[in-house]
Amino acid sequence: MRKVNNIVVVGVGQMGKGIAQVCLMAGYNVTLMDIQEDIIKNAVNYIKNGLNKLESKGQLLGGLTTTGILKNLNTTTNLIDAVNDADYIIEAIIEKLDIKQKVCKGALDNSPDHCIFASNTSSIRITDIAKTSKKPANVIGMHFFNPAPLMRLIEIIAGEKSSKEAIDIGVEVGESLPCLRGERYVPQVLKDRPGFIVNRVLAPGRIYSDYIYDLAYKKGIPWEQVDADVSNPKAPMSQLVVADFVGRDVSLHTAEYYAETLSSDFAPGEFVRKQVAEGNLGQKTGRGFYDWSKGRPKPDLSKKAGIVNPMVYTAIQANEGCRILEEGVCQSWKVIDEAILAGMNFPGPMKSATENYKQMVELLEEYSEKLKKSYIKPVELLRSGEFVDMV
Ligand SMILES: NC(=O)c1ccc[n+]([C@@H]2O[C@H](COP(=O)([O-])OP(=O)(O)OC[C@H]3O[C@@H](n4cnc5c(N)ncnc54)[C@H](O)[C@@H]3O)[C@@H](O)[C@H]2O)c1
Repeated sequence: MRKVNNIVVVGVGQMGKGIAQVCLMAGYNVTLMDIQEDIIKNAVNYIKNGLNKLESKGQLLGGLTTTGILKNLNTTTNLIDAVNDADYIIEAIIEKLDIKQKVCKGALDNSPDHCIFASNTSSIRITDIAKTSKKPANVIGMHFFNPAPLMRLIEIIAGEKSSKEAIDIGVEVGESLPCLRGERYVPQVLKDRPGFIVNRVLAPGRIYSDYIYDLAYKKGIPWEQVDADVSNPKAPMSQLVVADFVGRDVSLHTAEYYAETLSSDFAPGEFVRKQVAEGNLGQKTGRGFYDWSKGRPKPDLSKKAGIVNPMVYTAIQANEGCRILEEGVCQSWKVIDEAILAGMNFPGPMKSATENYKQMVELLEEYSEKLKKSYIKPVELLRSGEFVDMV
């Protein structure tokens, strides 16, 4: 397999700067490319501060120093200059298909023939990004979780035309990148389907959440009590604080995306549409479920509303896990659980499903009727329990 020495990170905003830092820490020569000078400056500062902190704690491996590592760092606003001797390009630009296609084509037209283009897209099909390029075999997905230096998971996604060599190199590069919270987990995503593994398995939980939010709104139940129902008391932020932090508009758009690509049952609920229409988007507008005008809210979770059955979430996720096994997105339920743990820091649903799938099937029959959402009906692999042997 061809050795990777020179990595270019295109787009060094929120995700790209962390990705570049771990590439540098792994010993690669790294070029940062962005269309905005100030974003590049900000990324360089972020990387310097990150490395300095690690060096002062003795956490830079292999005798590396910040000064030594920074000698391998270059920056440019010109894509053609950036990629002329690149072995591997990681794209982390804005989530827009036409712009990603343009960057993919421009990067592969101007780089050596062996160069691989790995997109960090969170939702766009890799096959679509590769479509206008002359070398679709060199295009793969490389999905990091935020922030890249801390989250262990990197999903490597095969587009319809990706070569086996490109995938193998993607996995090798992914596994070579240090992670500050333990060992990297770099599963292959074998089919180019929406949400890949982790986001996909967690996606249909939103169908139940929207049902709960609509119900609570109609009944006038305080959000703190709903939050107490859905949150893990040990988590650093409760569920509805996280929802406000991420943004209600982001949630609405994600629901619309899955409604378009998977099933109309994902169509956003009434309450989230109302929140977005009224501009109550969460932290960024000062109000979402909670008031953020005096900083991060600290909800009192001592009283529950008692309208949520947490087992329904686990059953919905396990069912989606079985659905992606049926689709051939991955081949083992253990991969799903490992990926969720590495990407989200909480356990996946599949191990529990191996023991409780019969109860889950009953629960999903009941709730698909109750919510009038046929998407959450149990799929064949869960019903039969045959997924248990897919280890
Ligand atoms: N933020 C997350 O939590 C997260 C997690 C996983 C994946 N992603 C994906 O990563 C990608 C980047 O997301 P982000 O949150 O870092 O966005 P961001 O807005 O913080 O950064 C995007 C950067 O791309 C630059 N850019 C735009 N067009 C460009 C072009 N033509 N050439 C070079 N640079 C260009 C912008 O100047 C900006 O600095 C998206 O595809 C997103 O879906 C994001």
